[in-house]
Amino acid sequence: MEELQRKVGGAEDPLSELIRKSLTRSSIFRNREVLRADYIPGNLPHRWEHVRRLGEILVPSLKGMRPSNVFIYGKTGTGKTAVVKHVFKKFEEEAARLNLQLKFVYINCRVAGTEYRVLSELCAALDVKVPFTGLSKAEVMNRFRNALHRSEVLMVTCLDEIDHLVKSSGDESLYQLTRINEGSPGGLMSIVGVSNDLMFKEMLDPRVLSSLSEEEIVFHPYTAVELVDILSERAKAAFHDGVVSEGVIQLCAALAAAEHGDARRALDLLRVAAELAEREGAERVEERHVRAAFGVIEQGRIYEALSTLPLHGRIVLLAVYQCVRAGVQKVTTGAVYNQYRNVCAALGVEPLTDRRVSSIISELTMMGVLSSDVVSYGRYGRTRRIALNVPTEELENVFLNDEALSNLIELPVSEPKGA
Ligand SMILES: Nc1ncnc2c1ncn2[C@@H]1O[C@H](COP(=O)(O)OP(=O)(O)OP(=O)(O)O)[C@@H](O)[C@H]1O
Ligand SMILES: [Mg+2]
Repeated sequence: MEELQRKVGGAEDPLSELIRKSLTRSSIFRNREVLRADYIPGNLPHRWEHVRRLGEILVPSLKGMRPSNVFIYGKTGTGKTAVVKHVFKKFEEEAARLNLQLKFVYINCRVAGTEYRVLSELCAALDVKVPFTGLSKAEVMNRFRNALHRSEVLMVTCLDEIDHLVKSSGDESLYQLTRINEGSPGGLMSIVGVSNDLMFKEMLDPRVLSSLSEEEIVFHPYTAVELVDILSERAKAAFHDGVVSEGVIQLCAALAAAEHGDARRALDLLRVAAELAEREGAERVEERHVRAAFGVIEQGRIYEALSTLPLHGRIVLLAVYQCVRAGVQKVTTGAVYNQYRNVCAALGVEPLTDRRVSSIISELTMMGVLSSDVVSYGRYGRTRRIALNVPTEELENVFLNDEALSNLIELPVSEPKGA
């Protein structure tokens, strides 16, 4: 009867189908957790050498001696975080077994967000409570220093994505942290700094750099062949037998290695491809799923990059988009600047100078979002002609979700004066 009623109303509620599917066992995934970004793999193919290096540097801690500070760098997705977490976990277990006053503390500076949060996480590691806000950074630093000096703890602290800390707040705190052991009658700290910004070292005061990088470990991008091993290892645990072929894994590895050997990208490709296959009700992940996944991820990256531009960058982009959509014959810097000013006026924000707008256009060109070439217009001199390099639907999507700009998408274009 119930069945009949549902049918009478036309189509079945799409949610019941969705829920039923989610409750039945996946024919693709054995364990999807294994492909999640925060999963810590037990095996790290092609990184045992790095694990051993970091282990050698930190091993004095098990004998109660302070290890050297280490600076680890390498491009994104090269296994830096995975290696540090693996080594910390092993050492932690050993420290507990030997009953040592030894702590391994992991802080991701980007996730923590502010210098204050990083410092309060350091305090928390020594059971010192710090209010969410209200204290000065100097005060939080003092509390941490006092607690460390009063204790007998040897603290090995990983400051992951350490460049975020310095970019947002300068290197003063880092300077103080590298000096924190001075005059301590008790506790000591070593720092494992990690960064994927290869220019980071140049941002540091030489004194900070030299104490932070008493030791250095470099992580090179993976080759496609190495990525195949990494993916195969994960695929065994993540998928049912026969779901993912060698060819699919090789394609993921090759696509990820084309830019630089980034294991995160390779794993994302495999995961998204498998999700697409599952949604389609396919029994196996095919190469076409991988190619589709590549498109999905690429779009996500464009969206991410554009929606996080600073406000004036987004306004310039909107102006270019509007000129293109309005079919302005020649989208010149002048036309863009004119429309940029229209948008600024509608928003009630002060426009930047031509020069700044021109350099924003150059930045967007460097990012690959716009392309521009210099053309000569006889007596009007030379100007740049600008074209959009990203799909307009993708841009629309960015603007529709932009709190500041979503109401201005339809703003009409007026021709620049004198054109
Ligand atoms: N050798 C490896 N074996 C297995 N999985 C790996 C290996 N290297 C990296 N991975 C996996 O790839 C993903 C990215 O690695 P990780 O987070 O360690 O990169 P990262 O170098 O810290 O990158 P970022 O600089 O962006 O923080 C993680 O899911 C990690 O588990
Ligand atoms: Mg990392």
